[in-house]
Amino acid sequence: MKTTQLLEDLSLETNEPAGVVVANDADRSRAFLLAHTLKRLRSPAFMVVHHDARQIPSVKKAKQEALFDRILCDVPCSGDGTLRKSPDAWAKWTPGGALNLFKTQVGIGLRAAALLKVGGVMVYSTCSFNPSENEAAVAEIVRQAEGTLEIQDMSSRFPALKRAAGMLTWKIMGRDRVIYSSYEECKDKDAKETGLMASMFPPALEEAKAIGLEHCMRLIPSHQDTGGFFIVALKKVKDLKEQVKQVPVVGPGGEKPEICKIYTKHGRCKYGNNCRFLHEDPEDDAPIKAQSSTKGEEPLTQLKGAHQEVLDNIKSFFGFKEDFPDSQLFTRSKDDAELPRHISYVSESIMEILACDVRGRLKVINCGIKAFERIEVRDPNVKAPYRICQEISQSMLPWIERKVETDVRVFQKMLNKHVHTVGEIDEIDTDKEAPLTKKLSNLGVGSFLLHATHERQLFVFSAFMGKDRLQLYISKDEVQTLKSQLAALLDTPVTAE
Ligand SMILES: C[S@@+](CC[C@H](N)C(=O)[O-])C[C@H]1O[C@@H](n2cnc3c(N)ncnc32)[C@H](O)[C@@H]1O
Repeated sequence: MKTTQLLEDLSLETNEPAGVVVANDADRSRAFLLAHTLKRLRSPAFMVVHHDARQIPSVKKAKQEALFDRILCDVPCSGDGTLRKSPDAWAKWTPGGALNLFKTQVGIGLRAAALLKVGGVMVYSTCSFNPSENEAAVAEIVRQAEGTLEIQDMSSRFPALKRAAGMLTWKIMGRDRVIYSSYEECKDKDAKETGLMASMFPPALEEAKAIGLEHCMRLIPSHQDTGGFFIVALKKVKDLKEQVKQVPVVGPGGEKPEICKIYTKHGRCKYGNNCRFLHEDPEDDAPIKAQSSTKGEEPLTQLKGAHQEVLDNIKSFFGFKEDFPDSQLFTRSKDDAELPRHISYVSESIMEILACDVRGRLKVINCGIKAFERIEVRDPNVKAPYRICQEISQSMLPWIERKVETDVRVFQKMLNKHVHTVGEIDEIDTDKEAPLTKKLSNLGVGSFLLHATHERQLFVFSAFMGKDRLQLYISKDEVQTLKSQLAALLDTPVTAE
């Protein structure tokens, strides 16, 4: 939902924005779900990856590290703010649930800070009320970021949004179900038993105020009839790396005394196993381990070059304009001998990111818009056995010659059936001077776009002209949507198939 809104905002002014949304979830099935949801927006400017966010690789464009303007860390949390929506979660709630996540939450926040541009803003959010997951995690992120992150005062933004200020002081219930006011009270107990760390407790009041913890925003369910949320915006004011560079990589006496800060902050360090500092492994309390690869899937490959013949055939068959950005077509089929099954169109920025990821460090689940799909064609005249996907039909229309225009009322009637014989089209068609069937016969067999315009509204669908019948490649849901839109526009009743 949040990612959808981000992508919608990015695409508000243009169909192909210069910016991109990179969405990540360590859980492979959730990442697929995310990709499925984002695909519906038909934007070429998104990429879904699945990594442990604490170690997500940096993104490069034109061989330069591309830092982000905005990052949303919607971190894994105990979710006690959702109890109203999911009362069953009460039964599973334990005090340890939140404490186990603390290191992961801090690690994700720090990795985000490393990937953020100076001047950029990151938002840390949870759907929990627990201060150890909220103010304590944020205080620790700010502390470890060593002056590079500043909490933003958002009180003048969204004035209608009711909110409570961040907490400056709190108590914590340990795994042992004892409530502690300070670390002093539990520091002599077995940490495994309590699950508590010093940084989970409130900082001294002066530090809490200096950090600006009161600018954190707590949305309470009674405020505006929602779930419980915690949100804070943090601005990067200095380069984190400059600070990290100052950290000595070798201990003063050659010993291995301390934890490597570079590894902790970036999830890797250029000295690898030879680093003289300790590489503290990702916490074993991480809720989910990222899969080792996008198993069973070939890496995304640019059609241009790797499948040049296919690209040339598609371009000549569909009559692409010279300046069509064909380097933005990608496929997952690697084997040159096989014709790619699916071809996607990505924005220029996504293309640059993919082009820089030659070692395949990014585990990409999906990106861009489905553009072409391989089909079985028996007619030898069809040199490119592909059909244009409905998802890209609107954006592709200006680029290709294989398209036929018709009257919007004919278009509307065609929605009543998926397959039409030439005779049936003649019956629907009212244009006796330039009949649709004549245009279709000039077009010849193969995939094409059928389009109509009414009151500056454009309607397009992907279709296939066979020897004597026309088939629409459009889902039932989309037929219903188009039917309703056209019925409203032309003031006619909605017809059933
Ligand atoms: C609060 S949910 C985010 C939900 C999402 N933003 C939405 O609006 O639907 C937290 C997500 O973090 C994922 N997750 C858990 N540990 C992670 C990690 N170490 N790195 C990346 N994602 C992680 C979980 O699979 C879960 O989907």
